[in-house]
Formats: sequence, structure tokens, C-alpha cells
Amino acid sequence: MMACAIVSTISSASAKQPSLASTPPMGWNSWNHFADKVSDSVIRAQADAMVSSGMRDAGYIYINIDDTWQGVRDGQGVIHPNAKFPDMKALAAYVHGKGLKLGIYSSPGAKTCAGFEGSYGHEEQDAKTYADWGVDYLKYDLCSFHDEVMAKAKTKQQRHRLMIDAYARMYRALRDTGRPIVYSLCQYGVDAVWNWGASVGGNLWRTTADISDNYDSMAMNGFGEAAIARYAGPGHWNDPDMLEIGNGGMSAAEYQTHMSLWALLAAPLLAGNDLATMTAQTIALLANREVIAIDQDSAGNQGTRVWMQGTNEIWAKKLADGSRAVGFFNRSGEMPDANLEIKLSDLKLTATVRARNVWTGSDLGKLHGKIQIAVPPHGVVLLKVTPSAAD
Ligand code: GLA
Repeated sequence: MMACAIVSTISSASAKQPSLASTPPMGWNSWNHFADKVSDSVIRAQADAMVSSGMRDAGYIYINIDDTWQGVRDGQGVIHPNAKFPDMKALAAYVHGKGLKLGIYSSPGAKTCAGFEGSYGHEEQDAKTYADWGVDYLKYDLCSFHDEVMAKAKTKQQRHRLMIDAYARMYRALRDTGRPIVYSLCQYGVDAVWNWGASVGGNLWRTTADISDNYDSMAMNGFGEAAIARYAGPGHWNDPDMLEIGNGGMSAAEYQTHMSLWALLAAPLLAGNDLATMTAQTIALLANREVIAIDQDSAGNQGTRVWMQGTNEIWAKKLADGSRAVGFFNRSGEMPDANLEIKLSDLKLTATVRARNVWTGSDLGKLHGKIQIAVPPHGVVLLKVTPSAAD
């Protein structure tokens, strides 16, 4: 009986064509900057700024409300937003009117991580409510389901089964609404979620603990993804967590590392700053078209580490046109610059290539045999390397 149930979950989910999240989702999420201060007016202001900053046109489409929007359930069990969100349907219409999509947040537990109402026992009802409001994306965060439900099971296998069933249940509920809703699993990467996230309909799954706005946290999440590259692909992505760019805790070089690494990882790009007050420098980091094109490449490969020595690392990602995005990272925070070198054969490239620095927009011309690059402390040089016709 159990085996049949597992198979039916897997086949119904994997039969889904990746019309949703065929490239890593791009947008914005309220948590990193606003946390419990998110409100209807904050969301409207972010939607406005997404358009006026040019970020929508660079590909950032989802405006995602994270935790703390929830009010109470009515006598029929229908969830209502709290006073910060007077009319969710009207808010969705406003966001849609800007050519954007709206995301929301819940938990399979009775309570969310911030202690608000979760979806436990109301999954189908909540999915219908979200669809009725016009929601296009759900982040489903394990939270109290772990301590209140899973913890009561006797074995690790039973706990795992409960978690998988909870995620599959909400997937089916979303699917049955008939509305395309991107499904984002958030359980912090435990139980090797990359092995089963797609089988419960996940379009993306968090692979890490929560990111913070500092280099060490960002580096731990991003550089920690090397071993799981093969699990990402069109419709289902590893998620090393939302961006911190523009929140003020890192230097420009560190934020450039953050953005470059996420692009090489084919990670979801969910800005986590205040779009309404961001600087031109932050827009330049978030909206560089060539960097975004690496993230959004149609082949859907997740890049991985190809060389490492001490605090120096080189990561590469094969792009649909046969070229490689190559990131040269210096993870040391100390001067001087690091000198990194890689043989083109180690990138499985021909002996002669053309290279372009995508952040500076400068063409490095033809290179033979190897690439040598100087990288500043905590910095990156991100190249697009293309096989040369006249090898
Ligand atoms: C967890 C998640 C975060 C955020 C908060 C909200 O910690 O990992 O991304 O959603 O909950 O409470």
C-alpha cells in the first residue's frame, strides 16, 4: 500500500512539464529586509520599484510575501490575512497590473516559524484560498511540523515519510486548484531534499540554513553547493536562499561574489533588500543582464567547482551555446590579490578561446592554453569563455 502511494506521488509530479520555473525563479522576498514589518503598502512599494528600477524588465517577476501576513481562520476554517493586509485579492490585482506575480508563504505545521497560522489540516482549503486571491508562488516552510508532528514519530524513516507526505499533499492541493503556482520547499536542506524534492512537485528547495547579510554566511551557503549540482535542472532547482545584496552588511566586492556565485549555481534570484530605497550600485549588481543570462541559461546546468587551492576556487557552468561561465573566487579577506590560473583543457574547452569579463563588459580577446586572473580579497572575476572558431 505504502509503496503504491510513493509511486503515485512520484509519477504524478514528475509527469509535470517544467512550464513553471523552466529557469530559476527571479523576484523579491520580504523576509531578509522587512521580516515582520511586511505589509500591503510595503508590497505595493516594492512592486512599483521593481518596475521603475528596471528590474522587472531584467527578469525579476515574483513579489513574495514571507511570514507574518496571516490572521485567523473563520468559522469555516478559511484563513484571513491580518490587519497589515486588508485585501489580498486587491493586492494581487495591483501586483499583476504591474506585470508581476505574487507569492505567499505558509507551513505544513500548525504554526509558521514566526508563530503565525500554518496550513496543518487546512491544506486544500488554503491552496484554494491562495488561488482565489491570485497567488502565483508558495514558499512552504517546515517550521512547527518538525517539532509538533514529526518529532512524535518513533523512527527516522517515519519522520521522513511524514515530511514527504506533507509536502506532497500541498503539491496536490496546489495542482488541483488549476492555477500555476510555483512550489518552493523550505526545510533547510535536511534529509537530502535534493533527492526527493522534485518527486513531491517542488520547483525549488532550500538546501541550507537561513542566509545572513555577511560574507561567511553567504559563502557557506553558496560554496557549499558543489556536490549537489546534478540535482538542479529546468523546473526543479537547488535554492541556497535569498539574496542579501543591498542590505548593507557586505562590501561591493562581496555582493558581487554573492551574485556571481548564485548565477553560476543557477540559483533562484530573489532579491531581499528594500527595492524602493536601493542605490544605483545595488541595481547594477542585481540587474546586470549578462550575469542574469548566466543564471537563466536555458540548458539549466548548475555550475560546480572545477579547481580549488587554499582559499582560491574556480567554478564553471556549461551554457546552452557551448561556452562556459567561469568564476574565479578569492575567499581570503586579506590583501594582496590572489593570482588564479586554469588550463582550458580543465574546462573541457579547445586550446583557443575568447573571453569576456561580464561585470566590466571588457573583452579579453583570444586566450591560448590557460586563463590567468588576479582576484581581490573576497572578490570574484566572472568570465564568459567561448570556444574560438579559428582554434
Ligand atoms: C525560516 C525560513 C526563512 C523565513 C523565516 C520566516 O527561518 O528559513 O527563510 O521564511 O522562517 O519566519
